[in-house]
Amino acid sequence: MPPAIPSATPPGTPKEYRIASIPADGIGPEVISAGLEVLEAVAARDGGFTLKVDHYDWGSNWYRRHGMFMPPDGLAWLRTADAIYFGAVGDPDVPDHISLWGLRLPICQGFDQYANVRPTRILPGVTSPLRDVGVGDLDWVIVRENSEGEYAGHGGRAHRGMPEEVATETAIFTRRGVERIMRFAFDIARSRPRKLLTVVTKSNAQRHGMVFWDEIAALVSHDYPDVTWDKELVDAMTTRMVRKPQSIDTVVATNLHADILSDLAAALAGSLGIAPTGNIDPERRSPSMFEPIHGSAFDITGKGIANPVASFWTAAMMLEHLGEKPAADLLMRAVEQVCAAGILSPDLGGKATTQEVTRAVVEAVRGMNR
Ligand code: IPM
Ligand code: MG
Repeated sequence: MPPAIPSATPPGTPKEYRIASIPADGIGPEVISAGLEVLEAVAARDGGFTLKVDHYDWGSNWYRRHGMFMPPDGLAWLRTADAIYFGAVGDPDVPDHISLWGLRLPICQGFDQYANVRPTRILPGVTSPLRDVGVGDLDWVIVRENSEGEYAGHGGRAHRGMPEEVATETAIFTRRGVERIMRFAFDIARSRPRKLLTVVTKSNAQRHGMVFWDEIAALVSHDYPDVTWDKELVDAMTTRMVRKPQSIDTVVATNLHADILSDLAAALAGSLGIAPTGNIDPERRSPSMFEPIHGSAFDITGKGIANPVASFWTAAMMLEHLGEKPAADLLMRAVEQVCAAGILSPDLGGKATTQEVTRAVVEAVRGMNR
């Protein structure tokens, strides 16, 4: 037998993951520090890995000081991380398109995190605004194309200030871009028990890009004979989400369509305050970025009442992506236990503060069987 190759880390040594934390604006810092606290508890409970967190103070305050949202070599710094844990970007004093194109989109697009994954489910203890719809009736994964489409940034303005001023915003669909997101979505659908995918489109009105989108979905579907799929126009999809939530499992949609549908999904599942997302590079050439979808929420910033559940669920997605599925499951079980016990923040009709929810989840993690 050949001698064993000595490994750099002796067996039994916990793996160390490097996490780049970018809390950024609004309630971002509150929910990300809550998330990091819970992640530490999960790592301690699991014992198989540790986390080394690099803190980056980029965002709108950084912009006020430096005239940009992150340093020009920001991506090179982030590349040293195994994953990025992101809070929210957006500030009442900075136009939204400046902050978005200053920080979040350069990371998503610069690292080609082309798959945005948005799971939605009704957590125990949480009430859906839909009548007669409870835990188990709504269990969706929305896959959002995250690199092109309506967010391609392609367009411009001419004749500024003149009566004939014109502005264009062209959606871009490339064969490579559409095919890879379709494959990713079919893979997710295949990995779930129902093996059911809905391809959202608007090819009745948009006869170029969206017809192309449908054609590629049909082509890719041949490689997934075990996945049942259908097509739904985006407007009809909103009605179906409300009226027949049980008919939906995995969904794939363009950048803008999925942006809109995922807010609706979060609201139907009880609150925007619980919805997580992962900006994934499925090929793992670059670190992926995980963030709550709720945004900076300036109306409640600093009040200590932000719902940290989205950032916990986000942390669970990050752990799963890092290969720590048992730890991710443990964290979600702890979150569900706390929600079921009625320890809920005001957006879910409860009275608990961010800190109280966080403390309860940390305690649940500590008491949880692996
Ligand atoms: C989201 C958000 C962003 C988006 C905003 C903040 C620009 O709504 O992640 O869904 O539209 O992508
Ligand atoms: Mg959105």
